[in-house]
Amino acid sequence: MAKLPRARTERVREPIRIGVLNGPNLNLLGRREPHHYGTQTLAEIESLLRERAGADDVSLVFFQSNDEGEIVDWVQANTGSVHAWLVNAAALTHTSVALRDALAGSGRPFVEVHLSNVFARESFRHTSLLSDLAIGVIAGFRASSYLFGLDALVGHLRGSVGAGAE
Ligand code: DQA
Repeated sequence: MAKLPRARTERVREPIRIGVLNGPNLNLLGRREPHHYGTQTLAEIESLLRERAGADDVSLVFFQSNDEGEIVDWVQANTGSVHAWLVNAAALTHTSVALRDALAGSGRPFVEVHLSNVFARESFRHTSLLSDLAIGVIAGFRASSYLFGLDALVGHLRGSVGAGAE
């Protein structure tokens, strides 16, 4: 696959707004394969994120869908109102050129997160169509992956956390 340039990040000085995107089956968190994903529900994770973001003067807008097209539509519709994305694309991570293109087309930086350590699981989960476009990737810390991802993203947007392979 051709390598697209990663979105450049300008230092953000105004209040930060982040779109938090969750892909298929993450609506079932809490009862879905807890040995991989832990026992917290998506609503609980969202409230942890809101609490952390609030302390940092960051606002969040959340979306979860089991439908790839709806997710692409949501990215397009919200690009104008967010500075960046926090993304757990779930299974779409491994399959979706459409989501890759939507995130690339948004021109907004993003951090990719996973609850489970995808590299310790089946080999088809070792491939991500998003990672090379992401600022960075956090996997394996269950709900805390989102909190670490948020901290990293906000730090990056404010210019205090460096990132990147270049
Ligand atoms: C996941 C890992 C994916 O491989 C899987 O399809 C998911 C969740 C995670 O958070 O660990 O649905 O993104």
